[in-house]
Amino acid sequence: MIKETESSATLSDSADTKIESMLDKFKVVTIIGSGTMGNGICHVFAQSGFKVHMMDIKQEALDKALATIGKNMDRQISKDRLTEDQKNDALGRITTFTDLAEAVKNADLVVEAATENVDLKTKIFEDLDKLCPEHTILATNTSSISITRIGSHTNRADKVIGMHFMNPVPVMKLVEIINGYATNKEVSEDISELAKFLGKVPCVANDYPGFISNRILMPMINEAIICLQEGVAGVEEIDTIMKLGMAHPMGPLQLADFIGLDTCLSILNVLHTGFGKQKYAPATLLVNMVQAKYLGVKTGEGFYKYTKGSKDLVVSDQFKHTR
Ligand SMILES: NC(=O)c1ccc[n+]([C@@H]2O[C@H](COP(=O)([O-])OP(=O)(O)OC[C@H]3O[C@@H](n4cnc5c(N)ncnc54)[C@H](O)[C@@H]3O)[C@@H](O)[C@H]2O)c1
Repeated sequence: MIKETESSATLSDSADTKIESMLDKFKVVTIIGSGTMGNGICHVFAQSGFKVHMMDIKQEALDKALATIGKNMDRQISKDRLTEDQKNDALGRITTFTDLAEAVKNADLVVEAATENVDLKTKIFEDLDKLCPEHTILATNTSSISITRIGSHTNRADKVIGMHFMNPVPVMKLVEIINGYATNKEVSEDISELAKFLGKVPCVANDYPGFISNRILMPMINEAIICLQEGVAGVEEIDTIMKLGMAHPMGPLQLADFIGLDTCLSILNVLHTGFGKQKYAPATLLVNMVQAKYLGVKTGEGFYKYTKGSKDLVVSDQFKHTR
């Protein structure tokens, strides 16, 4: 009996030590970009006990992100997965910034989740390298852009790594960890441990265009769009076939809306130029929709039309009569 008490005390002591050491190693975590992914990443870090700096160039994006995090935590409360006190503590750990220098000056880890654009990201990493303390690990949530290329814009390529969360971040278990050519092994191990600490499952991949997740997912989404473009079937038929026939929880067109069509297009462009193969060329329909700003959920319309407060899946008028 005494033995049991001792061993459970030892176990809980070692769990406490682990928690303390992780929170001690990454005292301040800065998230760059507070859009679809940035707010989810802030949510999980704050909920796990980290002090989070959330940075965006737009104040309205930060306000929207805080409201989204609060709403998503309320959903967790309604499912008894979080208490009101835990929600308030987590929100209390988040500070917002529009100034990059202020946001990162004492960061131990930065997770960049700004718009998927090579020039934008390389510029952010050049700035981060100058503004962050020497020890800071610089992670990116990029879906496809080369970690090695991003790292080459810093003087610390050994501390640059891909930390690719999935959408919606508080729900999805996977974090794809991508090692750039120069990423240090210990940094990779630390980031994998950190992902586990956040309640996620890390999977490590090497640095090739699209890594694993999007190299396989995006050609499928693109093919679904080409099928729609060619009139093989309508939006609902394509999504239903993939949902019921392949047991996918969501059809590829709905998933594209959810990811954001601009993000899908950027990833396909990276695959197309990275591999130089025609099979990755983005569908013309996708290019047109992005140019017309029909980006999916985030703009209210893509392949489907989204109305605030409604969960109904309504096909966009653009695709009501495909035959
Ligand atoms: N959407 C997804 O399903 C998904 C999944 C995994 C990874 N990603 C990746 O995550 C990243 C973010 O994607 P998202 O879907 O959240 O995009 P998003 O368009 O929803 O949000 C991007 C945010 O970045 C901000 N931003 C732009 N330039 C900035 C700068 N210089 N500094 C700080 N903030 C800046 C914008 O104001 C915006 O709020 C991309 O690299 C994307 O490929 C997206």
